[in-house]
Amino acid sequence: MKKLVLFLASAVLVASACNGPVSPQDRLTANDQKINELIAQMTLEEKVNMLHSKTNMSSAGVERLGIADMNYADGPFGIREEGQPHSFQSAGWTLDSATYFPTGSALAATWSEELAYKYGTGMGKEARLRGKDVILGPAVNIQRLPVGGRTYEYLSEDPILSAALSLQYTLGVQDKGTAVCIKHFAVNNQETNRGSVDAQLDERTLREIYLKPFERAIIEGGAMSVMPAYNKVNGDYCSENEHLLNEILRGEWGFKGFTVSDWGGTHSTMGAMLHGLNVQMTGSNYLGQPVIDSIATGALTEDLVDEKVRQILRVRMAIEAVPADVANTVQTSQPESQQIALEVARKSIVLLKNMGLLPIAKDVKKIAVIGQNAVLKTQSGGMGAGVKALYEVTPLEGICKRAAELGIEVKYAPGYKTIAFRWGPAPANLDPLEARSNDEPADPALVAEAVALAKEADLVLFFGGTNKSIETEGSDRKNIDLPCGQNELVKALFEANPELVSVLVSGGPTDLRELEPVSPAIVQAWWNGTEGGTALAEVLFGDIVPSGKLPFTFPKKLEDSPAYAMGNFPDPNGAGGDLFSLMFRPDVLKMTPEERQKFLDSLPKPVSKYTERFYVGYRWFDTKEIEPMYPFGYGLSYVYFEYGPITAKVEKETVKISFTLHNDGEYDADEVAQLYVSRPESKVEWPVKELKAFRRVTLNAGETKTVTMEIPLKDLRYWNEGTNAWDLEHGKLQLLLGGSSDDIRETAEVTI
Ligand code: BGC
Repeated sequence: MKKLVLFLASAVLVASACNGPVSPQDRLTANDQKINELIAQMTLEEKVNMLHSKTNMSSAGVERLGIADMNYADGPFGIREEGQPHSFQSAGWTLDSATYFPTGSALAATWSEELAYKYGTGMGKEARLRGKDVILGPAVNIQRLPVGGRTYEYLSEDPILSAALSLQYTLGVQDKGTAVCIKHFAVNNQETNRGSVDAQLDERTLREIYLKPFERAIIEGGAMSVMPAYNKVNGDYCSENEHLLNEILRGEWGFKGFTVSDWGGTHSTMGAMLHGLNVQMTGSNYLGQPVIDSIATGALTEDLVDEKVRQILRVRMAIEAVPADVANTVQTSQPESQQIALEVARKSIVLLKNMGLLPIAKDVKKIAVIGQNAVLKTQSGGMGAGVKALYEVTPLEGICKRAAELGIEVKYAPGYKTIAFRWGPAPANLDPLEARSNDEPADPALVAEAVALAKEADLVLFFGGTNKSIETEGSDRKNIDLPCGQNELVKALFEANPELVSVLVSGGPTDLRELEPVSPAIVQAWWNGTEGGTALAEVLFGDIVPSGKLPFTFPKKLEDSPAYAMGNFPDPNGAGGDLFSLMFRPDVLKMTPEERQKFLDSLPKPVSKYTERFYVGYRWFDTKEIEPMYPFGYGLSYVYFEYGPITAKVEKETVKISFTLHNDGEYDADEVAQLYVSRPESKVEWPVKELKAFRRVTLNAGETKTVTMEIPLKDLRYWNEGTNAWDLEHGKLQLLLGGSSDDIRETAEVTI
């Protein structure tokens, strides 16, 4: 195994002037000698003081020795508003408005490594302006469940796409002198019972699907810190999981930095100390005085504490602390970050259907914009992923601005009630799944008002989707239905005026079975950051061509998706006890921490079985031949792309392919070419096909380019559970090239 890890690492070595090649992780050890000298000067109390929170968003340094505190910042899409020292309540600052970048699924819909890198630089830079050392992101878990409360935070259902983007995000942030804290390690795929659920899965699925996005960011990106997730994996909490933290992360991947438990996700002193945690966030009940006491009794050694402090100090030394009088002197949000947010938004929007209504025709003079989601701001809410944005252009604002320039009249009607916004987890008296559903029926008066507007218009733009009360950290959706009677409304609108485009403002997939037949055009517009409305208007009016591709499958119905079809979610054995749904219950609030722990321990233990194995997302739909509503990788354009035949060869441990791509349209446009592989004669079990490479290509109208792509052979290996190691199966490999997982245009075969 060791050999294999070395081989892997060698692919990402960088030249160093004196000592030869050094891996990104090994660079963290450059100051070890100095660090050891510092540790030798520290008292045990000073060292242990570094192993837990100092404030809600910092852990301590040692002032006496000139070691600065470590300052953390949520979240993945923008530097979070400054909170009170010991809570998330606003500190009431005025210079802490940040750039709100498009959320995770939107970034992933760009399929752009270049943009993921830029995104990281924007985040890294704004973190510095706020005096932060570590960004609590990127959030890179696989989107296993369509209902997942954090689907919008995470990137994709596919590990290759997620890994490529998480690597670039990491590089971008860290190139700006800020550390990432990549999260949530690992197998954090549901919010239901997230504080106690045990994700039970086989090693092959773990390695090939769920660990990939972390692996690349750590090995190739040199990610400096990692946040173990709330849940358990195969019996042990992630914050004290020997297999994840010590064997894989540090042992196999050579991680040299430090781990920070998710907030409230530390569970014991011995478990955390022995099995890989460095910092308890928040609190000190496990990694404070109990560590000192355990050393006194001989249960723990001071050497172990030294090792943990060394790992923290490596990052502390790699990241320059921002002096207090330099931090927070200007507004966090910067024009170049706003520009990056706009670029990402422009390339993320996915055109799902178009019977000719888009781009909006020149003779359209009156537009009816219908639906609360046209005026929805998506920056705040969602707990750790909320951003206090300097500004946010809503869809309606973007449309009105562009329409005014074009001399088009726009009228707006809300169409349905605002979906009540609620912070935090579900109230204790409600089933968390129940609380997140919104079964409110259509409001007849609002429908009538919207229909009247639709009748007068040349074109109707219907805005549906969800909001951050429905899709949020802390709970999963009960279903993926469009809420608030949106289906009824859109049907009435279509009847009144069939010139109708539906725009979906949501982070995850929704059930479109009723909306699709009454929508001649459909656009997935995401929660698209500070400039989301600007980018959307540009796409609708044809100033730019849509080029986003779905990072996850839109199932026709929830029950078609793998974890549901296998009966794995929701947990068939009942909810069990979960810290995050119980901690607001009055009787639980009155308990001491010990009583609360005892109470939680007495409750049934929730489990999530991953018996669908590696058949996640399209791997499942393709293999089981279940037709989705829209497949993974899918997205239309205003032009047609022609793919030329594939030339393929295997050279230097890499499958190399080239082909020509032609823009057969009248607009300049981007295509995301996708390369899947299938193994027709394999003895090993595989999904029907798997994504292995992709490339976003920009082509002027009528232009043809030769495009190259590469698949490193190491990415074609499988985890052999017999030998407990990666294996490459030699033989025939079919290469499938196209514009989405179900639009394969060219094929070729190579032997590996
Ligand atoms: C979330 C993390 C977040 C942390 C701090 C937790 O509830 O799971 O993603 O970084 O809070 O806000």
